[in-house]
Amino acid sequence: MSKILIIHGPNLNLLGEREPDVYGTVNLENINQQAIEWGNTHSIDIDTFQSNHEGEIVDQIGKAKDTYDVIVINPAAYTHTSVAIRDAISAIGIPTIEVHLSNIHAREEFRHVSTVAPVSRGQICGFGIKSYILGLEAALSIINEK
Ligand code: DQA
Repeated sequence: MSKILIIHGPNLNLLGEREPDVYGTVNLENINQQAIEWGNTHSIDIDTFQSNHEGEIVDQIGKAKDTYDVIVINPAAYTHTSVAIRDAISAIGIPTIEVHLSNIHAREEFRHVSTVAPVSRGQICGFGIKSYILGLEAALSIINEK
């Protein structure tokens, strides 16, 4: 069975109560549940991981090698700052899809830059929690290409 790892970065554990006008009212547990249900429908195993710590995310990406077919990642604020997460994605070579709830390009200028975009297969942003489902659909098309 194919496997997808979903990684959520810092402060996404606060979804539901955090800036609901920007990020919506659905919490992380609910997003993960919807992702797992999507996985059940498509016979794909979904694992999820959230951390507020850059090094833990780097460790998780490093451990993903040989286990997962695709990574779907919302690096949250680390999107705009982390060379370490970018390098981890580049090092393992697993196809990675970058997702964001909000349209980062329509927000403050510092959010327009993503360190991980150049090492990702693509970026999906601006569709709220649907960004994750669209990310999973993109992951499925990569799996089917194999
Ligand atoms: C985010 C966008 C980032 O700029 C922000 O720091 C986040 C969430 C999003 O999903 O829209 O924490 O990644």
